[in-house]
Amino acid sequence: MEHVYLKHIGEHVGKEVEIRGWLYNKRSSGKIQFLIIRDGTDMIQGVLVKSEVSEEIFAAAKTLTQESSLVVRGVVREEPRSLSGYELSITDLEIIQIAEDYPITPKEHGVEYLMDRRHLWLRSQKQHAIMLIRDELIKATRRFFDERDFVLIDAPILTPASVEGTSTLFETDYFDDKAYLSQSGQLYMEAAAMAFGKVYCFGPTFRAEKSKTRRHLMEFWMIEPEVAFLDMDGNMDLQEEYVCYLVQQVLQNRRKELEIIERDISKLEAIVAPFPRISYDEAVKILQENGVDFKWGDDFGGGDETIIASQFDRPVFVHRYPTEIKAFYMQPDPERPEVVLGSDLLAPEGYGEIIGGGERIHDLDLIRQRIKEHNLPEEHYEWYVDLRRYGTVPHSGFGLGLERTVSWICGLPHLREAVPFARLINRIYP
Ligand code: 4AD
Ligand code: MG
Repeated sequence: MEHVYLKHIGEHVGKEVEIRGWLYNKRSSGKIQFLIIRDGTDMIQGVLVKSEVSEEIFAAAKTLTQESSLVVRGVVREEPRSLSGYELSITDLEIIQIAEDYPITPKEHGVEYLMDRRHLWLRSQKQHAIMLIRDELIKATRRFFDERDFVLIDAPILTPASVEGTSTLFETDYFDDKAYLSQSGQLYMEAAAMAFGKVYCFGPTFRAEKSKTRRHLMEFWMIEPEVAFLDMDGNMDLQEEYVCYLVQQVLQNRRKELEIIERDISKLEAIVAPFPRISYDEAVKILQENGVDFKWGDDFGGGDETIIASQFDRPVFVHRYPTEIKAFYMQPDPERPEVVLGSDLLAPEGYGEIIGGGERIHDLDLIRQRIKEHNLPEEHYEWYVDLRRYGTVPHSGFGLGLERTVSWICGLPHLREAVPFARLINRIYP
C-alpha cells in the first residue's frame, strides 16, 4: 500500500493509503473513535468504527496517548467540514510507541515552561506554522536573488575581526590565537562583490547582546547582499523590492499558516512599494513632536523606532544617520560629512529595525583613517583595505535579520518564537 504524506492526501480520494505519524489528539463516542493524526506535513481526522475493524485494533486505538507514534491505513474521503477537507476511514492501525505522558497539553503553559521543552513545542500547531513561514521566507530569498543573477558566496563564521563594534563579540580560542564568531558577513561580501558584481550570503551571525529585549538574540540569521556600483538610493530600491516580494510570497504560499497563527492579513496586504524614505533629521522631529526628549546625535532605542514607524502603514526607511553612531565602514554624505549614506528599514506595528545597510567607504585614505579612529587592530583589516587599493568602486549592501522579519510577518510578541532553538542571554538549552 502506498505511503502518502498528508500534504498530498487530496490526490488519493477514494483510495486506501498508509499514513505514518503521531497522534495529535483523540475523542471517542463509544462505538467510534476519532484520531487526529499529524505527519509533519498536515493533520487529518481518522475515523475508527467498531463494527468495521477487528476487536484488537479497536482496543489498541484506545490505548493511544498524545504523541504516540503510529502507522495507519485507511480510505481517503472528502469531508468539507473538517479542517483539512479530508477524512480517513481507518482499516488498520500499527502502534510504534505509546508515548509517555506528554508535557504539553492543550491547556495554557507559561513561556519559560514551553521554552524548556522547545524540542517538543515545535510540534504544536502554531509553532509548526511559524517555522513553515520562516522556511517560505528562506525559499523566497533564494528565488529573489537567483532571479536577479546574484551569486551566493558563503562568509566565514570564525573571524579575526569585528564588523559591528567590539562590544558584542563572542570570543573563542583559535589554537594559539583568538577568534570571534562572525557578527556579519559584510566585509567578506564586499570582497566578493568586487569579484562577482552582485553577491549575497545567508548564514548565522552572533552577538553577545548584554541586554534582555524581545528584539535580540545571541545567534540570528542574516541575509546580506552586496552590489558593486550601487548607491544608497539603489540600495533602498533593492530592499523595497525584496521585502515586498517576501511578504507577497508568504501571502501567496502560506495563507493557511497565517490563519493558524491568527495574523491580521490586511496589515500584510498593505505592504506595497513605495516605502516612505525619511532622513534621520525628520525622524528626530517626529520624536520631538511626540513628546520624546530626544537630542540630535543620539541613537534610536526600541521605543523610539516604534514611534517613528507607527506614523506609517508600511515599512519606513530612515537614512543619513549621524556618522558618530554608525559603523566605521559607512560612507559619509559628501555634502554633509556629519551624516552617512546609510539607512535602516523599520517595520510597522512596533517591530523595529529589520534591515541595516548603506554605501561603504571606497576611498583608501578614509577607510584607513576610520579604522584608526575606531581603534580597530589594523593588521586584521589589511585585506579589507586592499579592496580600496585594487580597483575600488562605490558599492552598497545591507543585512536583513531573518528572525526580526519572521517575527513581524507572523506578528509575534518576541523573537524567541521566530527561530527553532533560540539562544538568549539566559538560555542555551535545549
Ligand atoms: O544593523 P546591523 O548590525 O547591520 C549589519 O550587521 C551590517 N553589517 C549588515 C550589512 O550591511 N551587510 O544588523 C542587520 C540586521 C538588523 O537590522 C536586525 O534585523 C538584525 O540584523 N539584528 C538582529 N537580529 C536579532 N538579534 C540581534 N541581536 C540582532 N542584531 C541585528
Ligand atoms: Mg543596525
